[in-house]
Parts: sequence; C-alpha cells; structure tokens
Amino acid sequence: MPSVLQKIVLVYVLDPHSLDDLSHRYESGLSWLKKSVGGEPLKSILSRIISRLFTPKKEMVGNFGNTEAPGFTPVTTGMPPRVAPIWPLPRVGMSASDILSQFGKFDLWHYGYEFEGGPALLPSNLRRDHLTGNRRRPLQRFQHFMPYLVDALGGSLKGKRILDIACNSGFWSIQCALLGATVVGFDARSELIEQAELVKKIVGTENVDFLILPFEEMTLEKLGRFDAVLNLGILYHLPDPLAALFATKAMAETVIVVDTSLWATDEPVVHYHWEEPVDIRDAVSAGIVGYPSASALELMLRHIGIPAAYRVPIATDDMPQDYLTGERATWIGLLDRAA
Ligand SMILES: C[S@@+](CC[C@H](N)C(=O)[O-])C[C@H]1O[C@@H](n2cnc3c(N)ncnc32)[C@H](O)[C@@H]1O
Repeated sequence: MPSVLQKIVLVYVLDPHSLDDLSHRYESGLSWLKKSVGGEPLKSILSRIISRLFTPKKEMVGNFGNTEAPGFTPVTTGMPPRVAPIWPLPRVGMSASDILSQFGKFDLWHYGYEFEGGPALLPSNLRRDHLTGNRRRPLQRFQHFMPYLVDALGGSLKGKRILDIACNSGFWSIQCALLGATVVGFDARSELIEQAELVKKIVGTENVDFLILPFEEMTLEKLGRFDAVLNLGILYHLPDPLAALFATKAMAETVIVVDTSLWATDEPVVHYHWEEPVDIRDAVSAGIVGYPSASALELMLRHIGIPAAYRVPIATDDMPQDYLTGERATWIGLLDRAA
C-alpha cells in the first residue's frame, strides 16, 4: 500500500494540476511538495522512483496485512495470460447513422462506445473530471482485472454464468457475453438499461439479459447463482459496504470481483458521506454512502468468509490515475463452493 507521500508524488508526476484537486486530502504534504518539486529533471527522477515503488511484487498479491488468519489462504499466483477486449465492438444490427441517432436520444453516456466501421462515441457524463474525461478508462480497467477473472474461471468465460451488478449501459456485460459467457446485467436506472439494450442490439449478442433492478432487491431466488459476480464501481454508492459484500458473495459460486474507490488511509475505516443522485454514475437516491479504505475492504472480505482473495496488482502505468494512486483497486475473491 503506497504511503500518502508516495501518492502525492505519483499524482504530481502524472498530472501536476491534479494536486490542487486533491488538496483537501493531502493538505500537509502539498506546500512542501510544490516548493520542492519544480523542474523537469527532478520530475523524471521521481518517475523512476515511482516506477520502482509501484512495480508489482509477488508479495502484494494476497497481502492482507494484519488481517491474516488461520483458514485464510493468500493467493500468490503470477500474472495470468493477457485477455484482449473485444474492441471496437462488432456492429451487426444497425447502420452507423442509425446508431448516431439512437445514441443521441440520451443526454448522458457513462462509457464511450466504438463500433466496427464506426461510429466512435465519447462518454458524456454530467460531471467531467479526470475520471470521466478518460475515454480509455474502461479498456484500461479491462486489461487490469479481466485476465484475473478469466483465470479464476479456468482460462475461459465460455459457458460461464456471470452477474454484472450495476451494469450501467452494459460495457462489462457485453464484453463478458462476447467472450462466451451467459450474462445477467442489472441497474436501478431504467434509462441505462435502455442504453444497454441498444448496445446489445447493435452488437447482435443474444447471451445477455438486462434488468432494471435496485441492488437492494438482488436475491438468489430471483436470479439464481452465478459462476462469477462482478461488483464493479457500486460499493461506494451504497450505505453499507459490508452488507453489500455479503449479498454479492451469496450470488456467486466461484469468484467475485470487487472493484471500488477507496478512502485514502492505511487505517481500516469506512468513510461516510452524503451523495446526491446527480449523474448517471451516482447512487440512485440521496443518502449516505460508505467508502472503505483498502484495509477495511480486506477485513470485510475476510469477515464475509471468502476463503482466498487477492488485490489485483498494478502491472502497467497505462491505467487510470485513481488506480495508480491507490484510490481505487480491484480484489478477486475465490469461493470454490464446489470444492
Ligand atoms: C460508477 S457506475 C459503475 C458502472 C459499472 N459497474 C462499472 O464499474 O464500470 C455506478 C452504477 O451503479 C448504479 N447504481 C447506483 N446505485 C444503485 C443501486 N442501489 N442499485 C442498482 N444500481 C445502482 C448506477 O445507476 C450506475 O450505473
């Protein structure tokens, strides 16, 4: 886990202006850093230090810090084989001009989509920031954790049943379906499920179903059990991350993937704040949401009885900034109920 100073240095090198955005978190280190780090040569020295600090080490995998316990098996696998996203998406069911007019019916799109032979459409979130302005973000996230999901499922998604919680317009569901899985994706926002149905129609895949469903109504009785459950970008839009992880685990047979924003501290805490449902990536109603710190998240995975889990190591600097700074990360939880 990088220290606060490591994070400040990394953020500075990646994007000096973003220091101002982060000032509320790292106030004490900022003025020192701005005074000390000015010129280009120093910046390149820092880049080298950073690449050493963030080079994935085997020990990072399965590093549960002070949460180690009897019966808990840290995973120490190496890097799984690369998995390429299906990108641009196939364009089967619609002409390029029809796609443009259908996409135009929606004001906001969380992901940009690119279709074979065009068009290539940019994301259009209400709040444009360093997260939503990066149209490669979903592809970078894909290269980060999808190889680990595929590996956990025996090297292929073919014939596997996958649940995509809070699927938005279906980026992950569609990718998993194109890689051979049978997928259920759900989201509480009906307009996002309309978007997902549109993308499904364009791509021409049958093996994915999209549902309008609030997370709180996800049950085994309603949806059945899945080989893999994707809990991506949703934990910190909910009031109770621990309860959400229990619910996620209940739906899974073999593996859960938890990808979440984190509260930046080494302490095991959940930071609550108030979220208004402004953008299509937000909570669906106004209320308290909880950001776990990385160590809190790992304690939670242990508490819900995941027998083996590991944090996906950062393997490249071609990653969104929040992953590089440690403000977001992905965990693979292996259940193996069948064993
Ligand atoms: C940040 S986006 C994440 C999208 C996608 N899972 C990903 O990681 O790329 C959060 C999504 O959660 C959905 N969402 C928020 N609260 C929800 C809830 N209580 N039940 C179901 N979906 C919810 C939003 O509509 C939005 O699509």
